[in-house]
Amino acid sequence: IRYQTAKFVASYGNASKIPPSTCPEVCFVGRSNVGKSSIMNKLFNRKNLVKVSSTPGKTSNVNFFVADGVHFVDLPGYGFAQRSKSERERWADLIFDFLDMERSFNLVVSLVDIRHDPSKLDHQMIEFLQEGGYPFVVALTKADKLSRSQQGRQLATIRKQLNVPAEDIFVTSSATGQGIDELKRRIEAACLD
Ligand code: GTP
Ligand code: MG
Repeated sequence: IRYQTAKFVASYGNASKIPPSTCPEVCFVGRSNVGKSSIMNKLFNRKNLVKVSSTPGKTSNVNFFVADGVHFVDLPGYGFAQRSKSERERWADLIFDFLDMERSFNLVVSLVDIRHDPSKLDHQMIEFLQEGGYPFVVALTKADKLSRSQQGRQLATIRKQLNVPAEDIFVTSSATGQGIDELKRRIEAACLD
């Protein structure tokens, strides 16, 4: 996949408006501010194609990008307590209405902050993906905030808590690029076979 050719396709505030899949799709889920939009920019090697913000709740729609005939789907985050209940509900509806659609779902990348134990909502998301039989991997984000030895400890702890096989969990940083090539290869394997 020539990731650097990525272009914006479309943005949807309501899942019922999203057309059926016409190509392989990779989507990014995780709590608000975990780094979904940032990791997409890093994959694309673009600074600002996908909108990023230090304020949680930046991505409020389902946003489609395309590179070499593969769709990359940025989703709103879950679990941002400082937003109104109605806004959180709208985002949760959008995420789960999308995930409940009949789509290609070649790979779901589920992002979890490497610094913290997975939240209740992280557990719920991963159980949802496991029970639904979605092909998914976990990307632990913001690894640059920890030393290598701390990364190793958190990786082991989180992997056990989430009950995800070692080959399906990636230690990543959108700041340093750690783990990004490995994730790219995994995405390609999921989309091109
Ligand atoms: P929402 O759209 O609000 O759900 O958030 P998001 O998951 O898309 O997060 P986003 O990519 O907007 O990043 C949130 C904040 O975390 C921004 O300030 C980013 O610069 C920062 N960030 C994201 N990834 C990394 C990382 O790997 N390392 C560091 N140090 N900061 C990161
Ligand atoms: Mg975002």
